[in-house]
This record gives sequence, C-alpha cells and structure tokens, in this order.
Amino acid sequence: MNSNKFPRGLKLVKKLDGGSAASIFLVKDEQEQLCVLKGAAKTDDSKSLKQDFLVYEWLAGKVPVPVIHFFKEDDTIEWLCIEWIDGTTLAELPEAEQLVRIYAQALRLLHEVPLDSHAPVYSLDARLNEARIRIEKGWVDTADFEEEFSNYTTAQLWDELTKYKPTEADLVFTHGDYCPDNLIVHDGVVAAFIDMGRGGVADRYQDVALAIRSLKHESLENLIPLFLQHYGLTYLDENKLRFYTLLDEFF
Ligand SMILES: Nc1ncnc2c1ncn2[C@@H]1O[C@H](COP(=O)(O)OP(=O)(O)O)[C@@H](O)[C@H]1O
Ligand SMILES: [Mg+2]
Repeated sequence: MNSNKFPRGLKLVKKLDGGSAASIFLVKDEQEQLCVLKGAAKTDDSKSLKQDFLVYEWLAGKVPVPVIHFFKEDDTIEWLCIEWIDGTTLAELPEAEQLVRIYAQALRLLHEVPLDSHAPVYSLDARLNEARIRIEKGWVDTADFEEEFSNYTTAQLWDELTKYKPTEADLVFTHGDYCPDNLIVHDGVVAAFIDMGRGGVADRYQDVALAIRSLKHESLENLIPLFLQHYGLTYLDENKLRFYTLLDEFF
C-alpha cells in the first residue's frame, strides 16, 4: 500500500513497523497534526480494522486509547486514522522491573473497566470458529509455533487445544493481543493501549496468557511472580494458561 492511495489531505512522514499484515504510517493532516494511519486490504485472511475502531470508540474516556480521527472503507480497502501518541512502546523500556510493573498494572486497569451492553464482545466460540476457518484455508503458519510445539501438525495442535477447553469464563474487557509493543508509555505511565483489533469481552486469561508468554520470550520468567503480584492474581490456572497460549498459535 503506498502513499498515492492515502485518503485526501494526509501526507506521509514515515512508515511504521508492526507485526500484522496492515500497513502503518505516521502522517500529517491538513492542520500539520501527527496521526497514525493504518490501511488494510479487504482480503479474506486480513484482520478487519473495524474492530480496532469499535474498541477504541467504546474504551474512550475509560482507559487511555488514541482519539479516532476517522474510519473509512470502500470495496477494497479500510483506513483507520488515530491520534499519534508521544512516548515509546513498553517493549523499549530498559528497566525490566519497571516494564513488568507497568505491564501488570495496565492490564489490571483494563480488566477493571465495568462492562455494559454496548461493550464489543469477542467470544471464545467466535475465536475458535475463526481458528477453524484459518486451519481449513491453510493460513496457520506451523513455522511460527512455539518451540514446545515445533514438530506438531496443525491437526495435532488442535487436538491438544480441545483437551484444555475451559468450562467456565471469567469475563472482562480484554486487549486480545497484549504484547509489550502494543502499549505506549510516557514518563513511566501508560499513555495508550494500541492495536486493539482483537479486543473485546473475553476471559481474562486471553491477556494473562499472552503477557506471560511475552515475559518468557523476553527472558523475564523470573519476574512472572512480580507481574502476578502487581496484576493481583494469587493463583494461576495452568490449564487456562495453556489453552489460551495454544489458541494464539492459530492466529
Ligand atoms: N497511535 C500510535 N501512537 C504512537 N505509535 C504508534 C501508534 N500506533 C502504532 N504505533 C507504533 O507502530 C507500531 C505498530 O502499530 P500496531 O498498531 O501495533 O500494528 P500491528 O497491528 O502491525 O502490530 C506500534 O508497535 C507502535 O510502535
Ligand atoms: Mg502491534
């Protein structure tokens, strides 16, 4: 996606790096204000930006999220333009204990948001259904599996997943992709939750599992107890942890 296709009035400052298929740009609008523009082609396997938009809209005023400038779509492309947040990602913080403390406290803040009937929902059935479609279409990347599952086929991993399916849900508002590069911090406090296209009402372990996985990836296992202490969990449900970690392998 290049800047010739940008919505009118936006000028490219630089391309930003992200993990998803969406293209992300730092741009200036007609008032010379910095904004972040995300664009996604409407192909079957790309994540819709509509959900980011709905989640930011519902969370506005409840926890720090970027202000939405606009969401636009035509038959082939979606555009989401949001406020640029000054700061760095949590992943860039050099001090491990500070990183872990902010990571945990921010999650507690998000999970304490009171739910109402307008809260976007991302049910487990919807997630499992999506995972099944991704398997059928051959979109699951086995090369990307965690080391522990590196010689599993997709079907074997699915079998493993179903063994751990929880029978009850502890519903809160979840981020959905709670990695340290999806939090912007400024002066040691959370300036914004970003990249919330998988956000919605779901089990708290959706986020707890990905946070613990991220800490392991960053060789911060020793700080998991500190994370749990600041988040406020005294007991860790290992089955749920395994289930939600496994589930993410399909996305
Ligand atoms: N509103 C924003 N303000 C500041 N930086 C942002 C903003 N949105 C995205 N970024 C930067 O761009 C990176 C990728 O954006 P993100 O929305 O997470 O895309 P992806 O879905 O590809 O992971 C982020 O990790 C962050 O560094
Ligand atoms: Mg991201």
